[in-house]
Amino acid sequence: QELQINLEQIEKGGYDHFMLKEIYEQPNAISDTYRGRIRVAEGIIKMAGIDDNLAKLLNAKRIIVIACGTSWHAGLVAEYIFEELVRIPVEVEYASEFRYRNPVIHQDDVVIAISQSGETADTMAAIKLAKERGAFVFGVCNVVGSSISRETHAGAYTHAGPEIGVASTKAFTTQITVLSLIALKLAERKGTISNSDFHYYLQELERIPEKVKDALESNDHIKLIADTYKNARNFLYLGRGYNFPVALEGALKLKEISYIHAEGYPAAEMKHGPIALIDEQMPVVVIATKKGHYEKVVSNIQEIKSRKGKIIGIVTEGDETVKRLADHVIEIPETIEFLTPLLTTIPLQLLSYHIAVMLGKNVDQPRNLAKSVTVE
Ligand code: G6P
Repeated sequence: QELQINLEQIEKGGYDHFMLKEIYEQPNAISDTYRGRIRVAEGIIKMAGIDDNLAKLLNAKRIIVIACGTSWHAGLVAEYIFEELVRIPVEVEYASEFRYRNPVIHQDDVVIAISQSGETADTMAAIKLAKERGAFVFGVCNVVGSSISRETHAGAYTHAGPEIGVASTKAFTTQITVLSLIALKLAERKGTISNSDFHYYLQELERIPEKVKDALESNDHIKLIADTYKNARNFLYLGRGYNFPVALEGALKLKEISYIHAEGYPAAEMKHGPIALIDEQMPVVVIATKKGHYEKVVSNIQEIKSRKGKIIGIVTEGDETVKRLADHVIEIPETIEFLTPLLTTIPLQLLSYHIAVMLGKNVDQPRNLAKSVTVE
């Protein structure tokens, strides 16, 4: 028993929980994901699974992403990135819905299945269905040699290393990293982005790990915010564009480990429902980075404020406008818009982590949840 406890302590590497360790591993996990795959100076992205199937991928009329949980959120981020950079229409599907609804699948569709564990039963069944109907299926998995990585025609690993905490953290950011690499490679080949943008984007991607480190510096500040709102009954998370899926992911993290009810919404949809819930008891986490519909998000913040909601803004370093309006701001470094989810996610992970710890919850093994869901 004692030996077991000591071993676990060692595995946690000095952190109180695996989740916190994995949050802090993200700068390295992200660079492990692109290491060996990009040569920034030469402007080269090398990924065997993509290179070997380039024609198929470039000629895809449509991309269908299938996934569950946090991986589904990474798929939603990918939808925005692929449509913007590669100009191929993307649909993002819950694997469980896709597999049971007789979906229309064409031979020139490319399916991207995203799964950290590579063992999720619904995702596996959706892959089999897509294969039966003639689609090319590309896997994005973390666990090497997992069932999904073997079932797919080709794929790319995230190389995040083992993720133990049930609430997914580094798997999410590394999934976005791999999907960004794929999108950049295809966009360059397709000519849907300029050569200079391609080079610039690669350089920016290489700067992300340092910026994630900067974002992690807000930990103590986030702890104080967590202490202020730990007894809230509900939380609302808002974001737009690339950061709408991050709002969903932030809400999911809080629900999973603190058992506080939380909802993520596209900021502009607030007026179609959630605004009715806002009062002085309601903390609202708003992702309001400088790029990406900033003014529109600021006006959403004003609407929340006039209804006395408590505002926690995730803002770009040096922001003044939101700082004046919000109750709290958490700063993240500036980057190009499609890479912002890799940074905005970090404070949301930390916020849910600290709230759950303060409430005495079992952060690494939340009730009723499993790390890998191999049954329906
Ligand atoms: C479970 C896990 C989540 C994960 C989801 C999908 O619900 O608790 O963290 O996002 O399954 O898992 P996958 O391994 O397919 O990414």
